[in-house]
Amino acid sequence: MSNYNDVSETEKQEQYIEKCRAEVERISGELGRKLTCHVTTFGCQMNARDSEKLEGILEKAGYVIVDDENSDFTIFNTCTVRDNANQKVYGRLGLLSNYKKKNPGMKIALCGCMMQEEVVIEKIKKSYRYVDLMFGTHNIYKFPELLYNCLTSDSMIIDIWKESEKIVEELPVRRKYSFKSGINIMFGCNNFCSYCIVPYVRGRERSREPQDIIKEIKNLVNDGVVEVMLLGQNVNSYGKNLENPISFAELLTEIEKIEGLKRIRFMTPHPKDLSDDLIRVVKNSTKICHHIHLPMQSGSSEILYRMNRRYTKEQYLALVEKIRREIPDVSLTTDIIVGFPGETDKDVDDTIDVIKKADFDNAFTFIYSKRTGTPAAGWEQVLTEEEIKANFDRVLKTVQETSRKNVSKYEGSIMEVLVEEENENDPSMMTGRLANNTVVHFPAGKDLIGKLVNVSLDKCYGFYYIGHIV
Ligand code: 5AD
Ligand code: SF4
Repeated sequence: MSNYNDVSETEKQEQYIEKCRAEVERISGELGRKLTCHVTTFGCQMNARDSEKLEGILEKAGYVIVDDENSDFTIFNTCTVRDNANQKVYGRLGLLSNYKKKNPGMKIALCGCMMQEEVVIEKIKKSYRYVDLMFGTHNIYKFPELLYNCLTSDSMIIDIWKESEKIVEELPVRRKYSFKSGINIMFGCNNFCSYCIVPYVRGRERSREPQDIIKEIKNLVNDGVVEVMLLGQNVNSYGKNLENPISFAELLTEIEKIEGLKRIRFMTPHPKDLSDDLIRVVKNSTKICHHIHLPMQSGSSEILYRMNRRYTKEQYLALVEKIRREIPDVSLTTDIIVGFPGETDKDVDDTIDVIKKADFDNAFTFIYSKRTGTPAAGWEQVLTEEEIKANFDRVLKTVQETSRKNVSKYEGSIMEVLVEEENENDPSMMTGRLANNTVVHFPAGKDLIGKLVNVSLDKCYGFYYIGHIV
């Protein structure tokens, strides 16, 4: 069975939101105050988008959203891509038990990637008995129904699915920013990189229908959105398995036509199958930001082979060269893992060599984290923890040098900035971003939030600019 957009499920969940609303109103009447809720997000932009959906539903159900985990309904949207993400969740859960002791009506819920791991569920059942609700990544659209069950029951509710073909659209969303939004274009991943847990917790690739994506973006634009970030684990394989197949480049071409939309971003393309069509569409577009996040993971062909990345050092560098040739002002960023099982100092030399040659604008560097259930989890390390840490520091130093040099290369020029928010430290300044994602601070008023303005990039301070509007 192929995936499908289930309209009747949307209606069913909308009815549950109404039932939740009545229940929230009843409890609120008893307590003589409004009920509050809080969503804490761990992990990637997909999770951030899912959290906006959770907040939309909670708000519609009558909760007041507060910036405090000590609330009447607190939910953690978890991540499990590296073990430190899991540890953070356990630490924060401990704090919630104190809040619940003082507010016994408090409900505590967990959802997201960690919940797809059996060991996690067992641990919560055993050591965190005060959790009220757990659900996974495949049935997040059932949140209204689960929330209702949770509000009307005193026992722990656990609902985890192994997979789902359904895509449920059009439930309420509460956007963090009025002027920009993430959009899921696909879910899941079929790549099975040997270190990565994502395919196991997010399931197989499922693409949304292009017309549903376009409709969602048009609605967002009517609601004031000027920038969208198209989200998928590997956007290059978007649309391949739809009944009427369409490529990611074709989807972008259609999205570009949407009037009123000013900036288009996407993440993440996989280096193994980034097409010439995609490069051409980005090159010729006035809306698609000239910024490509191209995770390389390692610069050593041997390690890349064992990571199951399906490209070599040379192929990666050739791709970078082609992108830079076609789009000279492109900003390239990447992800790097240090300490993959079997990695030697010489492999890390290769990674450093690629960082220098590819001349990245920025890179996220991670120390390898063993994920149970992935092939690499059973493989031996040849280096000690200290040696891995030393390699990590070498890589980080190279990345910092390269990105510092690249960020500053626009000093003195005038570029378009999307005004995003008031500066955290100085309310007379606003903070915005260039198309290449670099942060710029400049004197301006709040009335410009969500607008594109031309800013002179007067001085670069490491990773950001101070400028003024011209
Ligand atoms: N250990 C360390 N980093 C990882 N990533 C994915 N899995 C792991 C792991 N087991 C990193 C990759 C990926 C990014 C989102 O997280 O670099 O691109
Ligand atoms: Fe994980 Fe690889 Fe899929 Fe990215 S492409 S989510 S690293 S399996």
